[in-house]
Amino acid sequence: MKLKIAVLAGDGIGPEISEQGVAVMTAVCEKFGHEVSYESAICGADAIDKVGNPFPEETYKTCMEADAVLFSAVGDPKFDNDPTAKVRPEQGLLAMRKQLGLYANIRPVETFDCLIHKSPLKDELVSGADFVCIRELTGGMYFGEKYEDDERAYDTNAYTRTEIERILHVGYSYARRRRKHLTVVDKANVLASSRLWRKVAQEVAKQYPDVQTDYMYVDNAAMRMIQDPRFFDVMVTENTFGDILTDEGSCITGSMGLLPSASIGEHTPVFEPIHGSWPQAKGLNIANPLAQILSVAMLFEYFNLQAEGQLIREAVNASLQANVRTPEIQVEGGAKYGTREVGQWIVNYINA
Ligand code: IPM
Ligand code: MG
Repeated sequence: MKLKIAVLAGDGIGPEISEQGVAVMTAVCEKFGHEVSYESAICGADAIDKVGNPFPEETYKTCMEADAVLFSAVGDPKFDNDPTAKVRPEQGLLAMRKQLGLYANIRPVETFDCLIHKSPLKDELVSGADFVCIRELTGGMYFGEKYEDDERAYDTNAYTRTEIERILHVGYSYARRRRKHLTVVDKANVLASSRLWRKVAQEVAKQYPDVQTDYMYVDNAAMRMIQDPRFFDVMVTENTFGDILTDEGSCITGSMGLLPSASIGEHTPVFEPIHGSWPQAKGLNIANPLAQILSVAMLFEYFNLQAEGQLIREAVNASLQANVRTPEIQVEGGAKYGTREVGQWIVNYINA
């Protein structure tokens, strides 16, 4: 297969983990005889500094012309601490989602047996937890009408039937490939937008009689994720609820630095770690490259290259077993490997 990849490394630790993602991708392509080419483009704070726009037109074009985008992270504290900043790195991420029509954000929450002790939850609760959150990504409060003055402000949580239907179909396609259990998360006891979600979900559910569908209020879902994370198989929810629940999900596995994601929709799909740009670690060679590397696995799997994805997953597991780990997950007394060393170990495993 021929693959043209847009590489958006972004800010903070982005460039370091991006480099390892690309190295792994290249190694897998060589092994399986795929022809891969890369085109880098700027985004986030880096792009604001260079051209004043966190998602410049040039970057948009590079993404549109690619088969997939390998994205790393955006964000810089100099904008967080400046309430008068007119433009922020995060706006680049939102612009990318909107302009590429990335309405479905797929965030798997998987546990790694050898890291379970890192979870804030008891081992017996979290062991074997394996679910995927399908977050709607281009609607709701993030993109609804906004107003802001010094006395009053609002965001609008608008959803259309079409937006709800298409994300549910994505959810069901995952549920059918998994344990056939889908949970629709909403706040239909309070929010009008959630009542439309539930109404549409009940209609769509009829098309998938082989999947068990249940409906849960978001507050209850937040609790259930901590009490009994194994309950969930596929969860579908709106943009804001998904943002919150996926951070919760990422931490129950004990390893935020290990979780990849895919955003898919109308144009080029984007593959990225769920973590942020960790500016304090920039250039220190301590960031965990595994979420980025696992995003590459999701990229291959998106193109139905299952064996390629599987090899990456196997290599990641082997590195963890061999205690080739970045400092935040290294066992006591174990050697601490850097971003580059972990990436190189995985490349060697793939080449072997
Ligand atoms: C995420 C992030 C983003 C979001 C931020 C950086 C705008 O938290 O991808 O979950 O809120 O969607
Ligand atoms: Mg978030």
